[in-house]
Amino acid sequence: MQDNGKPKIELGLEGVYFTESGICKVDGVNGRLYYYGYSIETLAENSNFEEVCYLLLNGRLPNAAELSGFRNSLAQERPLPDEVAGLIEDSPKDAHPMDVLRSAVSVMALYDPDANDNSDAANMRKSIRLVSRLASAVGAIGGCRNGIGYVKPDSSMGAAGNFFYMLTGKKPDAEAVKVLDLMLLLHAEHSSNASTFSGIVTAATLSDLYSAVTSAIGTLKGPLHGGADQAALEMMHAIGRPENTEVYINDALAGKKKIMGFGHRVYKTYDPRARIIKNRLEILQGSANEEVRNLTSIALAAEKLMIDKLGSSHGIWPNVDFFSGPVYTDLGIPDYLFTPLFAASRIPGWCAHVMQYWKSNRLVRPLEYYNGELDTQYVPISQR
Ligand SMILES: CC(C)(COP(=O)(O)OP(=O)(O)OC[C@H]1O[C@@H](n2cnc3c(N)ncnc32)[C@H](O)[C@@H]1OP(=O)(O)O)[C@@H](O)C(=O)NCCC(=O)NCCS
Repeated sequence: MQDNGKPKIELGLEGVYFTESGICKVDGVNGRLYYYGYSIETLAENSNFEEVCYLLLNGRLPNAAELSGFRNSLAQERPLPDEVAGLIEDSPKDAHPMDVLRSAVSVMALYDPDANDNSDAANMRKSIRLVSRLASAVGAIGGCRNGIGYVKPDSSMGAAGNFFYMLTGKKPDAEAVKVLDLMLLLHAEHSSNASTFSGIVTAATLSDLYSAVTSAIGTLKGPLHGGADQAALEMMHAIGRPENTEVYINDALAGKKKIMGFGHRVYKTYDPRARIIKNRLEILQGSANEEVRNLTSIALAAEKLMIDKLGSSHGIWPNVDFFSGPVYTDLGIPDYLFTPLFAASRIPGWCAHVMQYWKSNRLVRPLEYYNGELDTQYVPISQR
């Protein structure tokens, strides 16, 4: 309680610990990130998305037989129920892709015999299904928007390869699959971020995993969270040419606008995921594709300017969403799929946290300080 009799309010729950977990450590001071103790750099260098999904869901790395069994389970679950594929095909082409994805996940529950079974075994089966099918659903949204329709998933491919196959109808390029796989891995988990927290809040009422994931997708959609990747690319398009970057950024900051892809609630230094993605931009500077070269130059110019202006002085540094635009553009992925892809990569993290939270579940119910009137006189409608 403060001197004025009012409780101290932590807006946005900033700095508040609500649970403990060994899944992920975000070290915002030193710019380090760990999944179950493995540094993100180690995983990016040595692992892959499927192995990281196993790690997050099981708390340890698999041996070769376990990984192969896990990959087979994911492959078997890859096809979407007909009703889900139908919903994606029939949804309006101008609907927000995150709305389509959120609805698709809701409909998935209707055709999952495990939907309301909250046993550990059923939750693990549902997690595997969700990991596999979210990537299929995002591929289907892309295919249905670009005119090739719903391409049935290819169970011989992993999440990244199958996504490209469903998007284009063609066997994907091995290098593109490798790059997308890394992007999925980098986005797979991030502690109690807004979408994971909202999934936990839903799950903590002893609702079910599909409801939790549906909440999480709705939360991820916003431009202060997962929607920032698309917004950052839109800004780069609005800048147009590298030489316009300085004027654009100065005008935006003078107008108190936020530069999307910068700043973070926890990292007050360079986001380690952004650093890894930036390595790819160094390759893209020599791309044969002029649009990619141009976007890359704009991104690198904006990064330098923003660090000079707001880096050390204000703790506002590039985050994971800033460099994704040029990378995805190079891979031929349209901007409206960036945030859905973020969901398809964050799904193991959501499931892992929800399953862990249930082990010592407690309803999440914070307090709100009431600052209104009491005993307000009710005036009949005819006298108002
Ligand atoms: C992510 C984010 C919401 C976290 O911020 P937060 O902890 O809530 O902090 P605030 O939004 O209150 O920002 C604190 C100050 O920094 C400024 N700031 C934060 N991010 C900024 C950005 N990207 N560009 C310019 N200024 C920024 C705010 O304007 C504010 O300035 P003020 O104190 O003069 O009003 C915020 O940095 C942001 O909106 N970034 C852009 C969206 C984004 O990239 N989201 C993806 C996150 S992974």
